[in-house]
Amino acid sequence: MSDQPKKMTEAELLNPQDAGKPEPATTRMDSKETEVGSVFVSNYPPYSFWKKETVLEARKALNSPPASEATLGLYLHIPFCRKRCKFCYFRVYTDKNSSEIQTYLNALVKEVELYSEMPSVVGRPLEFVYFGGGTPSYISARHLKALVRSVKSAISWDSAKEVAFECEPGTLTQTKLEAIKEIGVTRLSLGVENLNDEILKENGRAHLTKEVYRVMPWIHALEFKQLNVDLIAGMVGETWETWQETVQKTIDLDVDSITVYQMELPFNTVYSKDILGGSDLFVADWKTKREWHNYAFEQFAAAGYEMSSAYTMVKKGKPGKFVYRDAVWHGSDMIGAGVASFSHMSGVHFQNAASWGEYLGSLNAGKLPLDRAFSTTRQERLTREMILQLKLGEIDTAYFQKKFDEDILDVFGSTYERLRNEGMLTFDKDGVKLTRKGLLRVDGLLPEFYAPKYQNARYT
Ligand SMILES: C[S@@+](CC[C@H](N)C(=O)[O-])C[C@H]1O[C@@H](n2cnc3c(N)ncnc32)[C@H](O)[C@@H]1O
Ligand code: SF4
Repeated sequence: MSDQPKKMTEAELLNPQDAGKPEPATTRMDSKETEVGSVFVSNYPPYSFWKKETVLEARKALNSPPASEATLGLYLHIPFCRKRCKFCYFRVYTDKNSSEIQTYLNALVKEVELYSEMPSVVGRPLEFVYFGGGTPSYISARHLKALVRSVKSAISWDSAKEVAFECEPGTLTQTKLEAIKEIGVTRLSLGVENLNDEILKENGRAHLTKEVYRVMPWIHALEFKQLNVDLIAGMVGETWETWQETVQKTIDLDVDSITVYQMELPFNTVYSKDILGGSDLFVADWKTKREWHNYAFEQFAAAGYEMSSAYTMVKKGKPGKFVYRDAVWHGSDMIGAGVASFSHMSGVHFQNAASWGEYLGSLNAGKLPLDRAFSTTRQERLTREMILQLKLGEIDTAYFQKKFDEDILDVFGSTYERLRNEGMLTFDKDGVKLTRKGLLRVDGLLPEFYAPKYQNARYT
């Protein structure tokens, strides 16, 4: 059998979701080639099981007091970018003008206002605020300050332990960075991705390396509490030589934390469509990407960084906590505001309308733009936390015993055993620890823990 993905029909190409293909995020595949389909596991049960009919359950959860002592966070989605990267799978717009952006930001404020009055939210302090995208740094300093003023008057974030903000290097100016600092951002994350101009161009990035070097002195001077950069191992055009250079140049940037993702090709990227349409685009295979990821982590360790998760290394002695990630992976409630954003409240997952018109239309009518939802069982919440926390590299049995009154070794023992035999992890009565081999492919292992009905299905 060929390793090449089957060429899709025209109908499937127009709407790959209809192809019903299982993806690595729901199926243990151990693929050699980088095939089209989601790999990164960000939630459980898979999004394809979230339904419109269940939105009622989400509304019920929102209109009741919180069901637990969970922390609460706020995610604000800013879906604008200068250009669409050919590998990107996020909901982004590259054609919106200033007045359309203003309309969107007004809707975002309206949405936060509606949440702030709900019984599930009233009186609860925010643990974290996360500006994600898209590119939050795309909007002007004036738009940003006005947005924050309005959001904060609806829901205070003074007690938040972290305010995180994603940036694309070419969108930053000194004035904008000052505004980002002024609104209280503690964790700045910069999408560097690679430090080779040919590779950045080939992959459709809007920025080149000179823009990274232009903004670094401004960022360092403003002394954000934590500075992270994102890299992708396996961008189109990458070789061992270029990757080694990017790793060294990243060390030279002297940042607090470095996140490395392995290039994946979910259905809705430009590259995926090219490949499914028959193009013979070359993307490094999984073995090579794991080797590159491993090489980067070894070099970062030698330069004084320590592992904080399967993707992120943090410089020793620097504040390493990533509040947003840890809260979400430990079952925090979260208000996800913005087009296509994901939320979680009192055991119910829900997602906003994914189209510009529907999102704005609902908020114009004074209604939350909820589109699909999933009401989790206790068992599903346990599985969700266990698999997400495995991405940290180790988990404690005591945590799950205390929170869910379950011994994870009883619940998942046979799967741990199987993965131990493959050299992916070790475990004893205190906890489970991934080996380096397991850590480098952790997302691909997680479907093994899913309930059978969620395996081999569409993920998104
Ligand atoms: C929302 S973006 C970060 C901020 C900003 N939009 C940017 O790209 O500079 C989040 C990160 O997801 C990662 N990412 C996006 N598409 C990816 C893909 N197909 N495979 C692996 N990582 C990807 C990139 O590292 C990117 O920095
Ligand atoms: S990777 Fe970042 S800059 Fe590129 S399209 Fe996606 S969100 Fe925008």
